[in-house]
Amino acid sequence: MKIVAIVGSLRAGSSSRSALCKAAEGARSAGATVELLDLRDLDLPLCDGRSDVSTYGPDVQRMHALVLGADALLVGSPEYHGSMTGALKNALDLLGEAPVRGKLVGLLAVARGDAGAMNTLNHLRHVFRWMGAWVLPTQVSVPRAKEAFAADGQPLRDGLADELAALGTETVRYAGLLAGGQA
Ligand SMILES: Cc1cc2nc3c(=O)[nH]c(=O)nc-3n(C[C@H](O)[C@H](O)[C@H](O)COP(=O)(O)O)c2cc1C
Repeated sequence: MKIVAIVGSLRAGSSSRSALCKAAEGARSAGATVELLDLRDLDLPLCDGRSDVSTYGPDVQRMHALVLGADALLVGSPEYHGSMTGALKNALDLLGEAPVRGKLVGLLAVARGDAGAMNTLNHLRHVFRWMGAWVLPTQVSVPRAKEAFAADGQPLRDGLADELAALGTETVRYAGLLAGGQA
């Protein structure tokens, strides 16, 4: 099973990246290979609605091919004004439905505030449902993200590492079920 983990933050030292890395560990422990897709490493133009996405340039095509070849996705975003980052939404708009449709998606989101990132998770769920994906009921919201991870990216809060790893293992488990294999 191949999973692509999309980091929705462009920030160096991103906590959503740290959270995704921990979820990826869980997915690997359940037998998947995981490739991290860091949007900050890609030169992505703004989606302008053109019909031929192949004209957007090599990084859009690279992203498209990577996601198309995945069995499932893990997606993490910071909360920006109550929703996912513009960078992530733009990347999803550039991707379009075809590489995402029918795939299982596990979600996590991080926020500065005490209330966590439930709005971002709900918005991501809505967008992926619109793109024809199956969104896992299990999800992780990380409040007070700045204090939640050490400088090396390790989760500091009680239970957070397990919660994130479980998101990864559940993504593998349910993607296997969706593919008709053993749970
Ligand atoms: C433009 C912008 C908008 C933000 N809006 C919110 C918000 O609505 N609620 C919140 O709790 N944090 C908000 N934050 C804080 C980020 O969610 C927080 O810093 C998060 O940890 C960043 O994730 P990252 O470390 O993966 O980049 C905002 C940050 C930025 C830059």
